[in-house]
Parts: sequence; C-alpha cells; structure tokens
Amino acid sequence: MRVFDLTIRSLVDENYIYARALSYLGVEFYLHPDRRLKEICAERGLTKSQVLNAFYLFDRSHRFSFQELKKYPLEIVVEYLKHTHHTFIKHRLPYIARLVNQYPDQDDLKLIFPEFIEEFINHIYEEEDTIFSYIGTLLDFQKGKYVNPQFFQLQYADLCLKSIHKEHKEEDELAGIRALVEESQATDLHRQVIAKEIKAFDREMWYHAEIENKILFPKAVALEAVVKEKINNLSKLN
Ligand SMILES: [Fe+2]
Ligand SMILES: [Fe+2]
Repeated sequence: MRVFDLTIRSLVDENYIYARALSYLGVEFYLHPDRRLKEICAERGLTKSQVLNAFYLFDRSHRFSFQELKKYPLEIVVEYLKHTHHTFIKHRLPYIARLVNQYPDQDDLKLIFPEFIEEFINHIYEEEDTIFSYIGTLLDFQKGKYVNPQFFQLQYADLCLKSIHKEHKEEDELAGIRALVEESQATDLHRQVIAKEIKAFDREMWYHAEIENKILFPKAVALEAVVKEKINNLSKLN
C-alpha cells in the first residue's frame, strides 16, 4: 500500500493529522522524518491495520452539527461541551505543547504557548465550576428537585447568565498566538505542523465558543429567568 512506502516527512507533509495519529502510536514524526513508514512499523511491531485505523480515526472529525445540537436539551449540550473541554485538555493541548517544546529552534511560541494553556485551563475550570454547576442547579430545580429558595438566592446572588454571556462573547484567548503563527516565516515541516495544528485548534475553539454563545447561553438564560421567578415567588410565600 502506497502510504507505507512513504517517508514520515512526506506523509506528514501530505496531511498533518497523520503526525497526530503517529504520535498516538508512539512515533514522533520529527524524530524520524526520513524513515519509511513500513520500516518504522516493522521495527515497532505495528500492524498495517493499526496504523490505518489510527489514520482514519484522527482524520475524521467527530462532532455534532450545530443544527443537531440546537435540538438537544440543555443537559446534553452541557455534557457535550464538557467532553470537548476534556479532549482539549487531555489530548489536543498536550500534543501541541509537545510539538512546540520539541521544536529545535528558538521561537516565541515557546514562551507564549504555556501562558495560553494556563489561561485556557482557567477559563475551562471557571466554566465548569461556576457556570455549568449553576446551570445544573437550575435544571435540578426545573425537574422538581427541592432547592431551598433562601440558599439559592444567597449562593447565586452575584450570578447573572446574561452578563456572563456578554463577556464570554468578547473573549478571544488565542489572539496572540494566532498573530505569531501568521507572522512566522519559518518553512520547515515541524514548524508547519505546529502552525496547522494551532489553526485547526483555533477553528475548533471558535466552533466550541459558538456552541456556548449561540446554544448553551440562550437556553440557559431562558431557564434562569423561569427558575428565578419561581424562586422569588416561593421565597415571598415563606
Ligand atoms: Fe467551553
Ligand atoms: Fe467558553
């Protein structure tokens, strides 16, 4: 089969996603650019079907369409977003960070990328610990689970999903890195794979934020209004 006769360099040059699939199989493309895939497979005991499966798996995008997600209940949208957070933190970012760290030349990305990761992880924690958990309480209440009205008002007095939504729409954590990637003149394969990974990640983050801004928040803001009104009425009765 043709791909197995190719060198790692030309394989990755053809499709940078193969670099990610190879890394998953334990082969870093930048360590063996001039070896043929079949030699590496023979050495490491990787079967052809293992390799092809990995290529296939990494190449296709697993995501719901926007229209599909819009129809799902809020719980599912939250679970989907949590799953994406997990994939970003556990798989995508560590891989890109490794590519950046192993890049042999001096590069500003080496300074900026770790800062971005820290900021990004904080964003995700804040989303999950504050916003998603608040939405969870709203959903519990709506499903009839007892929520103490006084406790609710005390605990969530400072939270207003409408204003969080407004702030969230204005955030753009990748701006600095995007500019660096666009300015770069480097043409070597390693740097190109980094640039392609960052651009792909940028697109995925944009898509993720769109789901939050256009599906999650509107659904949650509507729910919040209903729940708050009920809770206010309840506490007036008490
Ligand atoms: Fe998010
Ligand atoms: Fe977000």
